[in-house]
Amino acid sequence: MSNPTLSDPFPANLNPPFNVTRASHAVLTARDLDATQAFYCDVLGLILSRRDRDALYLRGLEERSHHSLVFLKSDKPPVCERVGLRVFTEDDLDRAAAHFGKIGHHAVFVERPYQGRTLHVDDAIGTPLELCATMDDLPTNLQRFELYKGASPMRLDHFQIAAHDVQTATDFYLALGFRLTEFTATDGKDEIWASWLQRKGNPHDVVFSSGRGPRLHHFAYAVPEARDIIHVCDVAGSLGFGKHFERGPGRHGIGNALFVYFRDPDGHRVELFNAHYQAIDINHTPLRWDLSNTRRSQLWGLPAQARWFYEASEFAGRAPQEPLLKADPVTLEKFLAQQF
Ligand SMILES: [Fe+2]
Repeated sequence: MSNPTLSDPFPANLNPPFNVTRASHAVLTARDLDATQAFYCDVLGLILSRRDRDALYLRGLEERSHHSLVFLKSDKPPVCERVGLRVFTEDDLDRAAAHFGKIGHHAVFVERPYQGRTLHVDDAIGTPLELCATMDDLPTNLQRFELYKGASPMRLDHFQIAAHDVQTATDFYLALGFRLTEFTATDGKDEIWASWLQRKGNPHDVVFSSGRGPRLHHFAYAVPEARDIIHVCDVAGSLGFGKHFERGPGRHGIGNALFVYFRDPDGHRVELFNAHYQAIDINHTPLRWDLSNTRRSQLWGLPAQARWFYEASEFAGRAPQEPLLKADPVTLEKFLAQQF
């Protein structure tokens, strides 16, 4: 269990075909928008940008773009419709469309409320993406301290996707200029089990972990201080949302985030975290962690329970495939059975 070690077996394309700037937003479905709004706004502390008859648009306190989270009302089983990436300019959108056409990925421009021109395309493992360069601009609430509540979430930071083929997903994003910061590999081999990929200069914009996929494992908001992680747990408990609490608080070995995970009223998983690091320099080579090392997921030692590893939100119309890599993580249940 020698970890972590430096290595760079997955070099990024430093001259990508178009400029992705960051993970931007997620579009999910919800059965009861009142319950969803109560959970995300009253408990977690997100700001309501807009509520239409059949949609909720939410953002973090510092975010000036119209939304980072969209919930569309649906009576069907809850799904994630798409995850969103921002590109730098409108020209990047055209370059993206040309690139996807060249590599045989069908891409189509669509209109979406409160967003500029938007490009829909699937990635190499079938994750439905939408790319845009602009959204409607709203006032920041960064200095509206009277609005801070719950965890005071500042901004959307990243997504984690369960992937049946992490290597193929990783190669696809490396070719788009994403850089690998850390990865998990099977012990003694270089079979990649999970990858942390970034464009904005911190540990990750998109994470892929081996599992039935594609499915959305979670999306994550950055919070200002460690005490906000504790406070949101107290708020959730006092408002009767204790059953929505899933994992943590704890400290990830990978990424160094102090974290807590909740499940929303439809079962979608959201992470709140604090204290990432910068990963900008060209010689910032990826950290490798063995899959058996439980400190990668929880630096304090206890791994996550099985449901955290195996449950995730399906993408609309995308049937998950079984993982190609037959290697399972150490779950809390297995860990405790070995210890006591
Ligand atoms: Fe995360």
